[in-house]
Amino acid sequence: MISIVTVVATLLAQTYQSGPTSPDGIGKFYYGREIAQVMGHQGASWLDRPEREAEEAPSLLIKALKLRPGMHVADIGAGTGALSFPMAKQVAPGGAVFAVEIQPELLDIIRTRSKKNGVKNVKTVLGTTTNPQVPANSMDLMLMVDVYHEFDFPREMVTNMIKGLKKGGRLVLVEYRGEDPEVPIKPLHKMTEAQVRKELTDFPLDFVQNDGVLPRQHILTFRKR
Ligand SMILES: C[S@@+](CC[C@H](N)C(=O)[O-])C[C@H]1O[C@@H](n2cnc3c(N)ncnc32)[C@H](O)[C@@H]1O
Repeated sequence: MISIVTVVATLLAQTYQSGPTSPDGIGKFYYGREIAQVMGHQGASWLDRPEREAEEAPSLLIKALKLRPGMHVADIGAGTGALSFPMAKQVAPGGAVFAVEIQPELLDIIRTRSKKNGVKNVKTVLGTTTNPQVPANSMDLMLMVDVYHEFDFPREMVTNMIKGLKKGGRLVLVEYRGEDPEVPIKPLHKMTEAQVRKELTDFPLDFVQNDGVLPRQHILTFRKR
């Protein structure tokens, strides 16, 4: 039998708490995890650093996603489009990538790149901190690369991302491995598989797998029921 203490502890974990603020946190806690500060657009060049392929192997991530022509993909927290553009090639012809950002300066960079390279199937979307603003039941995949841990409102974002997914569509989180002290990333910008799964338990999602192909990051796949 579930005790009243367990019920209260669960309800408290599911709501936001405040606490001491770390240098790169926002002093807001969710399931015991302090939410990280959003990476400002001023740091955008880090996303396009030449050594990223050697460090993180984003090309292996693109392969692991098994995209097909015709798919509709939302790149949530797209940054400068480092993942949006390679994915756009994979879903052509007929498919599109919706590059969702809350920082208009980054959407400007993506639009400039699309224009320069004649890319027609990357659509920019200005989201909010609670809603990615994509049409309901429209996406085959919602991808978050190094993004979920900095959502100010993870609960609302997950609720609305699920609304945007087709039935059976995938929600994929790529997060630096919190279990591995060798991964050279600040603690609030890493997550463990256990923490992610705990935060997503009470949503209509099934956990599919943690694909271990990347050198530093988990690829955590969930499917909409
Ligand atoms: C560390 S960057 C990663 C960018 C990109 N995914 C990449 O790997 O190159 C995280 C991005 O998530 C965006 N972000 C944070 N919260 C968001 C939200 N609720 N909706 C959409 N984007 C968000 C930030 O503006 C930032 O550009």
